[in-house]
Amino acid sequence: MVTRFPDQPGFTGFDAPMRVEADLMDVEVSQGAIPENLEGTYYRVVADFQWPPKVDGDFFFNGDGMVMSFRFSGGHADFKSRYVRTPRFVAQAKERRALFGAYRNPYTDDPSVAGMSRGLANTNVFWHGGKLLSSKEDSPPMMIDPDTLETIGEHTFDGALTSQTSTAHPKIDPRTGEMVFFGFAAKGETTPDIAYYEADSRGVVIHETWLRAPYSSMVHDFAVTQNFVVFPIIPLTSDLERLKAGGPHYAWDPHKDVYLGVLPRKGNGADIRWYRGSNRFASHIMGAHDDGRHIFIDTPVSESNFFPFFPDLSGAGYEAEKAKGYLSRWTIDTMGESNGFTETKIARYPGEFPRMDDRRETLPYNWGVLALSDVPEQESPGRGFRWISSIDLNTGHSQIYYPGHDCSVAEPLFVPAHDNAEEREGYVFVVIGRHEEMRSDLVILDAAHLDAPPVATLKMPLRIRSGLHGNWVSATELARERTA
Ligand SMILES: [Fe+2]
Repeated sequence: MVTRFPDQPGFTGFDAPMRVEADLMDVEVSQGAIPENLEGTYYRVVADFQWPPKVDGDFFFNGDGMVMSFRFSGGHADFKSRYVRTPRFVAQAKERRALFGAYRNPYTDDPSVAGMSRGLANTNVFWHGGKLLSSKEDSPPMMIDPDTLETIGEHTFDGALTSQTSTAHPKIDPRTGEMVFFGFAAKGETTPDIAYYEADSRGVVIHETWLRAPYSSMVHDFAVTQNFVVFPIIPLTSDLERLKAGGPHYAWDPHKDVYLGVLPRKGNGADIRWYRGSNRFASHIMGAHDDGRHIFIDTPVSESNFFPFFPDLSGAGYEAEKAKGYLSRWTIDTMGESNGFTETKIARYPGEFPRMDDRRETLPYNWGVLALSDVPEQESPGRGFRWISSIDLNTGHSQIYYPGHDCSVAEPLFVPAHDNAEEREGYVFVVIGRHEEMRSDLVILDAAHLDAPPVATLKMPLRIRSGLHGNWVSATELARERTA
């Protein structure tokens, strides 16, 4: 069997699979200088098909996880990338071909892999309890060596992960070091069951409770505050019969409402209260906090389905304009009579991949950053995310960075200047795709002056295709927690 990728979007040009594991000592700095006191590692993960897909029209959510690290010390940065050796990756490598079929559809798999984990560990890589975990929401996370990026194995929290799945968007409470996380489709694909967990700072599960969503859907992210957890149920619905018929895992239902399920932190799933709102799309949460009574959740919201590869149940085509998400604030009054919630638009320009200073997770915060897909005042040929914007949540003031024509931007990440830095005192890291040159840069921006020339540009001699999420782990944190 010849190994040949399809001549289809997502498999050609800048987004063709990379399929290279790299070690690059001392990345060239083509502009500026890396701050000398920056000590730590930027971990991120991209989805990168090792084998041509088994099904037609496959898309990047179904690619193998490739973990990357930029390790900073003394004004230098070393780069490394490794595929995550999931059971799926190992089984396919042995046969030199794809054995797993369509995205989250086990009914399209080769019979030889029946019952094997379909996890790809391709969505987020994060540090907690002295462990580096790479994760996709359809399976347990994979443990990765933080220095070599070699795969250690599947992580089930010493068997305490009773859900079949675990989110790629856990939240770490900076006050306690607890990791708050959940699994959806927790009893198997398309089940409406959600398992909510908290693990202490060492990674030991100290709370578990279960609940059922009003309908089965993608619960990609959630909101955590000091006093509450909120599970957003967005009408990107799943259906077992559709899966069995070989159909797509998710489809947009324009007739279903949004539900926000609220529980007190470490509460019992039986006590969940659902707040209902009209049909709309939202996915990533920038940040959330509460004042004891009201919960405030900041998230890009669009009129309709954001993902072109998930069809509309009504048969309507993809509408790019309706898919644009604008950062908005949802407010829930937990002591009011209303079972609804309010929504206020915050941002002028559409964007996604919202991040904030993770040390403010669960707490009130003032500042965030996201990738923009449109800035009407600026001419920029191309599609997708092409700008980075910071936003002051108190004033609405934003600063915008534009990397130049024919470039794409990945998720921006805030990196504190040092362990005791104030909010906004530090850098924004962003991987830029230089499409004409078929290679990438890691750009380091001053978080307080995002529109100024970069602090440093790390020139990569290779291409890093569109990726998902990543996180910064300071050298202090890595050393302290590993030896704990
Ligand atoms: Fe995500």
